Amino acid sequence: MKSKKLRVGIIGTGGIANAHLKSYLRMGDEVEIVGGSDIVPGKAREFFDNAGLTDVQAFDSNDELLSLGLDAVSICTYNSTHAECTIAAIEAGAHVLCEKPMSVTLDDAITMYNCAKENNKILTIGFQPRYDPNMDLVREIVGSGALGEIYYIQTGGGRRRGIPGGTFVRKELAGVGALADIGCYSLDMVLSAIGYPKPLTVSAYASDRFGKNPKYFSDAKNFDVDDFSVALIRLEGDIALDFRMSWAMHMDSMGDTMFFGTDAGLKIKPAGVGTGWGGAWDGTIGPIYMYSDINGQLCETSIPLRTPSDDRFYGKVKAFCDAVATGGTAPIPTIESVYNQAIVDGIYRSSQMGKEVEILLPGL
Ligand SMILES: NC(=O)c1ccc[n+]([C@@H]2O[C@H](COP(=O)([O-])OP(=O)(O)OC[C@H]3O[C@@H](n4cnc5c(N)ncnc54)[C@H](O)[C@@H]3O)[C@@H](O)[C@H]2O)c1
Repeated sequence: MKSKKLRVGIIGTGGIANAHLKSYLRMGDEVEIVGGSDIVPGKAREFFDNAGLTDVQAFDSNDELLSLGLDAVSICTYNSTHAECTIAAIEAGAHVLCEKPMSVTLDDAITMYNCAKENNKILTIGFQPRYDPNMDLVREIVGSGALGEIYYIQTGGGRRRGIPGGTFVRKELAGVGALADIGCYSLDMVLSAIGYPKPLTVSAYASDRFGKNPKYFSDAKNFDVDDFSVALIRLEGDIALDFRMSWAMHMDSMGDTMFFGTDAGLKIKPAGVGTGWGGAWDGTIGPIYMYSDINGQLCETSIPLRTPSDDRFYGKVKAFCDAVATGGTAPIPTIESVYNQAIVDGIYRSSQMGKEVEILLPGL
């Protein structure tokens, strides 16, 4: 017997909605793209027409879209409206794939998590690097126990010249800058490898010197988020996490990502260093090295990289649809994205206050 087609919708038909649409279309008969909505009048209609999908319904109101009875919805709005759109979609009976970062504040992330739980719906956040075979490789090596007890992690990455512009640099729309935009990927990469321990405290510094300077960013007058941040995060299990992120800097990279263990260490070089844009973990992984002591000899081993066989973005949309179709759970457990947001929120608060802050997770 042929399984039922999933009825899907897209809320927010800006840039990234195109990648969601492309992935849903690639699923062919498994999915029916029912409609989309955007708060900018006419934008959803134009989005589908541009894709040649003139029969797909388009609305200027999310409520009208959600009244059609959808199985699954992609939330592709800017960060500040992730929470309200996710909650509306879940309350209307849909499972949700929400773009990263989960939200702007930890409070919103907790409300989204509880809403999904109470309504028995899937809520998964769009971290497509999870579907990269070399990110799997890192998780497999770390998860194998070969490093022993992990006590320190550094996650680097960052761009030399990579301020994205548009809605990403406006506090009212994005909420947070580089820290949340690409920092959430770095955090997800290392924390997913060690099973996402609870974050406890954060001491952070953030700045906006490049975004606010017209010499480096053409829309400097509208820039009101961070473009650089560093933090020391304490995690449950006596682990220190050293975080570094930037959209722009006079440096080629914010360093490697490194796991320090009692038996071995793992270094992951950022890819694309020297290209200006490269080096953040939303992209391809660079060379991987393992450092160990074999019979008293200090060894450095190069780990062969895997060749990606498919598109990461398709992987994330497909995993979501498969979970919805089979009555499964969120492919990326929602609580992990709440912890991710807790750290982003902690870095933001600590940098604003100029001192270490505690991470509290009320209502979980
Ligand atoms: N996973 C990735 O690779 C990736 C890449 C780019 C962006 N993103 C994420 O996707 C999100 C959107 O980014 P973008 O580049 O598409 O931004 P964008 O500004 O191009 O598009 C956002 C759209 O959402 C609409 N919108 C905002 N609030 C709405 C609401 N309440 N109801 C309906 N529509 C609403 C806006 O009008 C706009 O058309 C961001 O959270 C961003 O971090 C993810």
